[in-house]
Amino acid sequence: MTQTPIISIRNVTKRFGSFTALEDISIDIRPGEIFALLGPSGCGKSTLLRIIAGFETPTEGDILIDGKDMTEVPPNKRPVNMVFQSYAVFPHMSVADNVAYGLKMDKLPAAEIKTKVAEALKQVHLSEFSHRMPDQLSGGQRQRVALARALVKRPRVLLLDEPLSALDAKLRDAMRLELVKLQQTVGVSFIMVTHDQSEALAMADRIAVLDQGRLRQLADPVTLYRKPADAFVADFIGRVNLFEVTAHEPGSTTATVASLGEIALAAAAAYPEGEALVLAVRPEHIRLTAGEGPGVPATLGDVAFQGDSSIVEVTLADGRSVQVLEDAAESARLMQLDPGAIVTLEIDWTKAAILRRSAL
Ligand SMILES: Nc1ncnc2c1ncn2[C@@H]1O[C@H](COP(=O)(O)OP(=O)(O)OP(=O)(O)O)[C@@H](O)[C@H]1O
Ligand SMILES: [Mg+2]
Repeated sequence: MTQTPIISIRNVTKRFGSFTALEDISIDIRPGEIFALLGPSGCGKSTLLRIIAGFETPTEGDILIDGKDMTEVPPNKRPVNMVFQSYAVFPHMSVADNVAYGLKMDKLPAAEIKTKVAEALKQVHLSEFSHRMPDQLSGGQRQRVALARALVKRPRVLLLDEPLSALDAKLRDAMRLELVKLQQTVGVSFIMVTHDQSEALAMADRIAVLDQGRLRQLADPVTLYRKPADAFVADFIGRVNLFEVTAHEPGSTTATVASLGEIALAAAAAYPEGEALVLAVRPEHIRLTAGEGPGVPATLGDVAFQGDSSIVEVTLADGRSVQVLEDAAESARLMQLDPGAIVTLEIDWTKAAILRRSAL
């Protein structure tokens, strides 16, 4: 089924002077999806969001919303609404007045404003707080006021720039779920910017991974994790151990890999074209056993306890360090061993992938 995209980003390039912040980005956003723009600081996420909202003009390329070219359309006439990272609420207005503000600007009748404000506050679970002032609210509640202010205008698309970054870990988790529920109830599309991969993985239907203004990969969370386009994506989405591939035959199922020597891969692990290949092994695809055995010898380093699991650091014979994920029971056993104890790594080669260092 082909749907008209709610937003089409077509070959958008943005330059600030000689600096290229975005380079030839093309993305179609589907109606009703939660779409995440993910990437390290400075990769161009906010710039792209601001271009969609109309606060910046692309140097090249176009933005279409609902099939209509937005080039000549100012921000306040676009069917989108942006929620900024530093939740922009007016400190001198009550919660209800904050939410009503945009509707008053649009000169809607008072009765209609009242109904719409009440509905928006209900959607973000703030009905009882309508008379409070922003300084009488928690960070998460203020964030929800900002959301209600955007929702009340009934945008087709809500643009959220790092919507949860100011919140503590627990509140952030709760708000993630609330945002997803809210999105499902009101049915608007969300485009959210985040540099937090776990937030994107948990919330988004699809994710665009950006790096230095370029689109590295666009896929759903599971595909990004299981089939990263290159080593950058593998490294950015979750943890990964990367080993340089020093020699390979195209089409063969063996490779010579730095620190590991010659290894046999699953037949399915086809080689990508090109040079600069790396072997990517996720920490959960390695098993650690105490003592010597068949497998890769190593010595035990730090065990970073995470509650239900641990990240165990081991050192290979050539000094290279490797991360291994172990469950609580296994890591408790490992913690009994002395640091520097001999251990053996069993790598599940069927899960290892050979990737290009960069898909660009
Ligand atoms: N008005 C501007 N003039 C010059 N350079 C700019 C301007 N706005 C953004 N940039 C540059 O463009 C790049 C992308 O900026 P942007 O704000 O989009 O990054 P970001 O991905 O949102 O990063 P962060 O995660 O830190 O918020 C940065 O290098 C930034 O310095
Ligand atoms: Mg930003």
